[in-house]
Amino acid sequence: MTVPNPITKSRKNSAFKHLMTVHWWMAACYVIIFSTGMIMVQLPANLDIRSPMYSFHKSMGVLTMALLTWRILTLLRVWWKKYTRRFPKLTLPWFQTVALHTSLYVFMWGVPVAGYFLSNSFRPNNVKFFGLPLPDIFPVDSSAVGLARNLHFWLSYTFLAFILLHSLDQWKVIRANLRRFRSFLGKAKTKGDS
Ligand code: HEM
Ligand code: HEM
Repeated sequence: MTVPNPITKSRKNSAFKHLMTVHWWMAACYVIIFSTGMIMVQLPANLDIRSPMYSFHKSMGVLTMALLTWRILTLLRVWWKKYTRRFPKLTLPWFQTVALHTSLYVFMWGVPVAGYFLSNSFRPNNVKFFGLPLPDIFPVDSSAVGLARNLHFWLSYTFLAFILLHSLDQWKVIRANLRRFRSFLGKAKTKGDS
């Protein structure tokens, strides 16, 4: 079976490059958010760094929500450019990729919304964007805190599992491209030597 090459001419349109730039910025944000989230919940309540760490985690989470809006608009541009030219072949791998990417988008939206739900249910004015107070979207409700906490926890770790699945999937493509590139360099060198 031939491995699909993501570095083909059609994928090199500027909208796709733009999409991948947002992709890597957001991936870096998720590394920071997951690390802070996992560490901060383990810290003792009286430790000074705990509260700033929660604020930082929330701010970074809000930042990903803003970046997601930008990403969706860019994705729509990519689709417009791609699918107005040629309708996709509705193969099983195409459906698998669409299903995985759609799930990732649902998590990129659902996880921070669940975090916002948790913070708002706990107390009012509990979410700031690097110090800038943000409006409450959900009402304060102590009976909803448990549900919100569970929701944020399970959605976060299921999201992480999907990210690992996606990375594994893409890593195969990246490795195949690296192999192609190395063989190209090897051939170019042999030509130069002869
Ligand atoms: C950290 C969380 C990540 C998320 C949420 C994520 C999500 C996505 C999504 C939704 C797409 C489809 C294009 C788009 O709409 O942006 C995509 C494409 C891609 N991702 Fe990720 N990704 C993540 C991390 C990674 C990692 C770690 C790798 C490297 C192994 C990777 C490699 C790629 C590649 C190469 C593409 C382009 C695939 C193509 O040519 O269509 N991603 N990613
Ligand atoms: C994509 C964005 C986000 C990711 C991936 C994420 C991930 C996580 C993770 C992994 C934890 C630790 C859970 C545990 O092990 O118990 C956590 C905790 C937490 N997150 Fe997020 N989070 C995100 C966004 C947000 C946002 C936007 C808010 C609020 C505005 C928020 C509020 C919280 C709070 C309050 C906790 C502590 C929960 C507890 O005390 O049990 N998160 N988050």
